[in-house]
Amino acid sequence: MDDRDYVLGTQDEEIERLGLQHRVWRDRMLGAWARAGLAPGMTVLDIGAGPGFAAVDLAEAVGPQGRVLALERSRRFLDSLEARAARLGLGNVEARECDVSDGPFGESVADAAWCRWVLSFVADPAATVRNLAAALKPGGVAIFHEYADYGAWRTMPPDPDVERFRTLVMQSWRDEGGEPDIALQLPSMLAAAGLETVEARPLIDIVRPGDFAWRWPAAFMAVNARRLRDLGYATADEAERFATALDRAGDGAMMITPLVAELIVRKPAGR
Ligand SMILES: C[S@@+](CC[C@H](N)C(=O)[O-])C[C@H]1O[C@@H](n2cnc3c(N)ncnc32)[C@H](O)[C@@H]1O
Repeated sequence: MDDRDYVLGTQDEEIERLGLQHRVWRDRMLGAWARAGLAPGMTVLDIGAGPGFAAVDLAEAVGPQGRVLALERSRRFLDSLEARAARLGLGNVEARECDVSDGPFGESVADAAWCRWVLSFVADPAATVRNLAAALKPGGVAIFHEYADYGAWRTMPPDPDVERFRTLVMQSWRDEGGEPDIALQLPSMLAAAGLETVEARPLIDIVRPGDFAWRWPAAFMAVNARRLRDLGYATADEAERFATALDRAGDGAMMITPLVAELIVRKPAGR
């Protein structure tokens, strides 16, 4: 896969940004895994694993008797995952290069699946959910963190650079065949794939400039301002303003984060 094939890119600064994003979201992720019943010995799929920050946590959660299969389209991201797993001495992670919306990636092979911020980018999210459902064993569980309302991301008061940046980001994802608010389609895709929803909750915050979570959108703007310029969506001047917009926010400023839907679903036993 070429770097230009994926709208957010696979360059080193994007890997670093995904690491920061993972640290901001890690506690919520671990909470969802615990509620879903992830346990040692399980075989777990990481759908669209990226450079594998969550895959490494999954490997620790399932332990040496368990197994993580990280499915990802970018060889560059998988190289990063393999290097990190080797550094940590994790022998239970397999990195597999594949397009998750193409053919099936297994029949009743996994106890669980984790899918975060992937369905917005795949060519065929319904096929991806079908493939995931087929790969789960009966009684298997899947956990999704996907955007339900990307437009919820706003500063208080609204900052014209943030508003414009967010609009261009959503446009660039849609131009590549993706859909930012893909979680809105998820319930019908899950039902069509025979998966039953166990739990659903909204994940959204209001953060301030000193909060660790403020750095999540700030890093996204810094890295993706250049990306939008390189892809022809933003001028050099705009990109420069976008990159530092959140660093310029005044002390009293606040920010509403994009709305993520957390869904925990199960494949009925006996299917
Ligand atoms: C925003 S990143 C999220 C990565 C990871 N899930 C995480 O939470 O950090 C989206 C990932 O989906 C991958 N991806 C997009 N389309 C894909 C496809 N059709 N098949 C496999 N991976 C895909 C991208 O390469 C990228 O690694």
